[in-house]
Amino acid sequence: MNLEHEINKRRTFAIISHPDAGKTTLTEKLLLFGNIIRNAGTVKGKKSGKFATSDWMEIEKKRGISVTSSVMSFPYDNYYVNILDTPGHEDFSEDTYRTLTAVDSVVMIIDATKGVEPQTIKLFKVCRMRGIPIFTFINKLDREGKEPLDLLSEIEEVLGIESYPMNWPIGMGKRFLGLYDRYSKQFIQYKGNEEEAILSFDDKAYVEDIKNHPTFKETEEELELINQAGNEFSIDAVQKGELTPVFFGSAISNFGVQTFFDTFLQFASPPKPRKTNEGYVNPNHPDFSGFVFKIQANMNPAHRDRIAFLRVCSGQFERGASVTLTRTQKKIKLAQSQQFLASDRETVEVAYPGDIIGIYDPNQYQIGDTITGGADMFVYEELPQFPPELFKKVTVKNVMKSKQFKKGIEQLVQEGAIQLFRQYTTDEYILGAVGQLQFDVFEYRMKAEYNVEVVFQILGDRVPRWIATDKVDARLFDSRNLLVKDRHERLVVLFENDFALRWFQDKQKDIQLIDLFEINNYKN
Ligand code: G4P
Repeated sequence: MNLEHEINKRRTFAIISHPDAGKTTLTEKLLLFGNIIRNAGTVKGKKSGKFATSDWMEIEKKRGISVTSSVMSFPYDNYYVNILDTPGHEDFSEDTYRTLTAVDSVVMIIDATKGVEPQTIKLFKVCRMRGIPIFTFINKLDREGKEPLDLLSEIEEVLGIESYPMNWPIGMGKRFLGLYDRYSKQFIQYKGNEEEAILSFDDKAYVEDIKNHPTFKETEEELELINQAGNEFSIDAVQKGELTPVFFGSAISNFGVQTFFDTFLQFASPPKPRKTNEGYVNPNHPDFSGFVFKIQANMNPAHRDRIAFLRVCSGQFERGASVTLTRTQKKIKLAQSQQFLASDRETVEVAYPGDIIGIYDPNQYQIGDTITGGADMFVYEELPQFPPELFKKVTVKNVMKSKQFKKGIEQLVQEGAIQLFRQYTTDEYILGAVGQLQFDVFEYRMKAEYNVEVVFQILGDRVPRWIATDKVDARLFDSRNLLVKDRHERLVVLFENDFALRWFQDKQKDIQLIDLFEINNYKN
C-alpha cells in the first residue's frame, strides 16, 4: 500500500549539540548528500547573514538569527529525510525543546575535544523523557581530543545511557589514520580533504601497511577491550533510547559522515504509533491527523499572520482537506499549507506521517492542538511543560495600559511563547524562559501587537522545582528561594542555585520537590 510505503521511508529527526560542536557543518554534509545544496558553505553563510532570505520578525533580522527552527526535507537513497533544526546559540528557547516532541529520533553531536557539554545535557534530558532513540556522532577527530574510551564513559556517566561504538578511531589529530568499522570489519583510511579509502581487512597490501603501524597497534588493545567488555548491540535497546550507537568522524573533512548517515537511516525508526487520550494511533490509520508543536508569529509582518507547525502523525494530508480542530471541534479547510525545504517555503500538496507542514493560523491554534480529518475527536498527548531557567519580574511601564498588558501576557503565554508565574504572596507577574531570546521576543511582541511597553526586573538563573502537594508553609521561603504559582496554580520554588536546592532538601525532607525534566507530564 502506498501509505505504508511512504511511512516506512520517513526518517524525521533533529540534530542536538552544544554550540560549535559542528551541527551546521554536519547538516551541510547531509544536505550535500541529498543534493539540496551544491557547495559547501551555503549553510554556514547563515551566520554571516547571506542566508537571510526570509522576511521574518525584525528582531530576527537585527540579531541575524533564526527565531524558530526550520525543517529541511529531501529524498535520499530509499528514504525521505526530514531534519528539524534545533536552534542553539542565543536563539535557544522552549521551541528547541518542543521540536523534540515532533521527531522520531535524534542525532547527538559531541565535540571530541570537549566531551559532553551543558546544552547537550539539557537537550538529551528531553530525549530521555520522551524515550527518543539517540545516535551519537563524535566530531572533530582530525584534532587532538579526549581519549575515545574516556568519551564513551563520559557519555555513559554524565548522560546515563549505554553506548555502543559502531566504529573506532585509529589515532586522532595528526596521528589520525582512520576508522575501523566494527560491523563490516573494514578499515576506512583518513586521507584528509574529503577523501576516504575503504580497505578490507583481507586486503594483503593493507595488512602490511596499516596493521603494523604503531598507532594501530596501540588501538588494537582498546578494540579488544570494547569487543570483550563493551555493551552488546541491541536494536531494541536503540529504539527504546536506552543504548546509543556511537560513530566517530570529522564533519569538516566529510570523514565517516556518509557511513554514519547510511547506518543511522537504517536503524532509526520510521514514524511510530503516537499516544492519544483514546490509546495509540497508528501512522497507517486511514484518517489524517497531526499535532501543532510550534507557532511562528509574524513570519510576514505586513500580514501579521502566523504559521502553525504541524507534525503529521497518521494518514495522508492533502491540500485543501477539511479537518477538525479537536479542542474546539471547529471545521477548517487547510488550503494554505507549506512545506519547508532548506530556506524556501513552498506549497505542499500531500504529506505523510513524519512530515512537518506549516499551516496558516488566523490566531486559532494553540501549541499541542490536535487536527484530524476523521470523525473521531481524539487528542494527542499533551506536550510537556519544560522547566525554564531564566526568570524576570515584569510590569507595565504605563499603568493606564494594564488591560492590554494582561491581555498580551495571557495570549503570549497561551501560545507558549513564554511561561507565566505569580509570586505566591504578592501575586506579581514573573516570566520564565529557557533562553534570553524568549524575553526579547516577548518584549517586542508586547510593543508591536499590544502597544504595551514592559519593564523587567531580573531574577536571574534559577532552579525551579514543583512542589508535589497543594499546600506548603510559605514562611519557609524568601526572595532567594522564591515561592511562586505556575499558570495551573501549582506551587513552584525558584531556588537561587543547586546548592540552595540541596540545602533545602536536606532540611525539609517531607516536602517532595519535582524536577520537570525527570518526569513526564506531571499532573497534566
Ligand atoms: P555549530 O553549528 O554546532 O555551532 O558548529 P559549526 O558547524 O558552526 O562548527 C563550529 C566550528 O567547528 C567551525 O569552526 C567549524 O568549521 C568547526 N568544525 C566543524 N566540524 C569540524 C571537524 O570535524 N573538525 C574540525 N577541526 N573543526 C570542525 P569556526 O572556526 O567557528 O568557523 P569557520 O571559520 O571554520 O567557518
